[in-house]
Amino acid sequence: MSKAPVLDLADLSVTYSGVAQAVTGVSLQVRPGEVVGLIGESGSGKSTLAHSILGLLPPSARIDGQRLMLNGQDLLSASKSDLAALRGPGAAMVFQNPMASFSPLHTIGRQLTDFLWRDVNSSRAQKRRQIVAALTEAGISDPDARFDAYPFELSGGMLQRVAIAAALLMKPSLLIADEPTTALDVTMEAQILHLMRELRAKTGVAILMISHQLGVIAEICDRVAVMYAGRIVEEGDAQAIFSNPQHPYTKALLACELSLVESGARRLPVIDWQETNAESAPITSATESRTTIGDAA
Ligand SMILES: Nc1ncnc2c1ncn2[C@@H]1O[C@H](COP(=O)(O)OP(=O)(O)OP(=O)(O)O)[C@@H](O)[C@H]1O
Ligand SMILES: [Mg+2]
Repeated sequence: MSKAPVLDLADLSVTYSGVAQAVTGVSLQVRPGEVVGLIGESGSGKSTLAHSILGLLPPSARIDGQRLMLNGQDLLSASKSDLAALRGPGAAMVFQNPMASFSPLHTIGRQLTDFLWRDVNSSRAQKRRQIVAALTEAGISDPDARFDAYPFELSGGMLQRVAIAAALLMKPSLLIADEPTTALDVTMEAQILHLMRELRAKTGVAILMISHQLGVIAEICDRVAVMYAGRIVEEGDAQAIFSNPQHPYTKALLACELSLVESGARRLPVIDWQETNAESAPITSATESRTTIGDAA
C-alpha cells in the first residue's frame, strides 16, 4: 500500500503533573482505511494516547516526542491557533459511554447541528437534511423523529450510533473509538462493530479502536498494537498477534482473555510487570514492520 499514513506518531510521551509518565516513547502509524487496535490493561495509557492526538489532555499533561502527525501535519510544532483547524477535519472520537457524550438538556438534532458550526454557508434546513442523512447512514430508524428526540429517549446502542454519526459528520480521516462497545450488551456490541466495518468500507475512514476486549479487536482490526505500562510492547498483523504472540505480556493477555471467557467477566485483570519481562524491546511481527509502513509513502 503506497498511501501516506493518516496518523504518524514517533517516540511520543505524555507526562501528567511533571511526574507520572502515562505514555512512554510510543511510535505508531495508521494508514488510510486501516483499522488498528490498541489493546492493554486498565491504566496502560490507551486513553492518554488517544487524548494526546485529539488535544483532550488536561493542562497538567505535557506531550514530548519526535512526531505527532495527523494528515501530514505535525501537531507538535503547530501553533495553538492552528491546532483546532488541523484536528477538526483530521480526527474525531467516539467515547465509551454514549449517555455521557450528549447533554440531557438538548435534542439530538440541536447537538448534532453544533458539530456543523463551521459550515456557515448552509441553512438550518440544509444542516437538518445533512444530519438526518448521517443518522440514516449510522443505521438509525426513523431518523427524522430521532432528530427531535432527547438522549434519554434512545437506547445506549442507538445513542452510540448517533455518536458515530456525529463523529462522521466532521468527515474525519481518522476515527478514534475508545472502548465504544464496553457499555453495551453483546448484541448491541456486534451491531456497532458491524456498523463501523460498514462505514470504513463506505467512507474509507481509518479507525483506531481502543479496547480491553480481544474479541472486539479480533473482530474488526487489520493490525494490533499491545500497550503495557505506557509502552507499545508488541505490534503487528492482527491474525499473527492472535495466533502467535511473541511478547510475554501479549501471551499473558491472551491467556487472561481465555479465562475471562470462562468466568464471564468483561475487564482484564492487571498483570505484574515483573512477570512479563516487559522492559525488553517492543516486538513487531514479521508480517508488518513499522519500517515498512513508514517507508510506504
Ligand atoms: N488526568 C490525569 N492526571 C494524572 N494521571 C492520569 C490522568 N489521566 C490518567 N492518568 C494516569 O495515566 C495512566 C494511564 O491512564 P489511561 O486512562 O490513559 O489508561 P487506559 O489504558 O485508558 O486505562 P482504561 O483501560 O482503564 O481506560 C494511569 O496510571 C492513570 O492513572
Ligand atoms: Mg481508557
